[in-house]
Amino acid sequence: MINIGILTVSDKGSQGLRQDKSGPTIRDMVVGIGAVVEYEIVPDERELISDKLIAWADGGKVDVILTNGGTGLSARDVTPEATLAVIDKNVPGIAEVMRARSLAITPMAMLSRAVAGLRGDCLIINLPGSPKAVKECLEAVLPAIPHAVEIIKGTVTEHAIK
Ligand code: MTE
Repeated sequence: MINIGILTVSDKGSQGLRQDKSGPTIRDMVVGIGAVVEYEIVPDERELISDKLIAWADGGKVDVILTNGGTGLSARDVTPEATLAVIDKNVPGIAEVMRARSLAITPMAMLSRAVAGLRGDCLIINLPGSPKAVKECLEAVLPAIPHAVEIIKGTVTEHAIK
């Protein structure tokens, strides 16, 4: 079972001014692959986002962190920077697939600066903020997450050649 942390990044959500619908969307979508062991909402503050990613990744309880929100172009959108500041390996293919698949749905997909990477043995993936975008992006990468975690944890070392 994969332990998952959901970090919703939203100024309004963190103040209780907007109900978080994207966090629960993620929760519903990951039921088949793991258990949600952490869920929090933080404002669009780079340091607060980074601190939370570090705490969860280094705490040893969370295998995968799915952030949502703050990946766009507005002045307050800093989730990719907060993520890049704490990862030690970039996993560009994950963000590439999310954008590629999403571009078939909306040209706005190119406006997400989402990144993905590893901090230690924790995989961190940024998702855009709207429930629709979360669903479309997570659908694209979800099938690869269990195998990614197996490789990261070292529980599989050999791969079948197809
Ligand atoms: N990706 C998908 N699949 N579907 C979407 O509707 N919306 C885009 C983009 N990615 C979208 C998407 C829009 S409109 C924006 S502004 C960016 O994600 C950034 O969103 P964020 O700032 O909420 O993270």
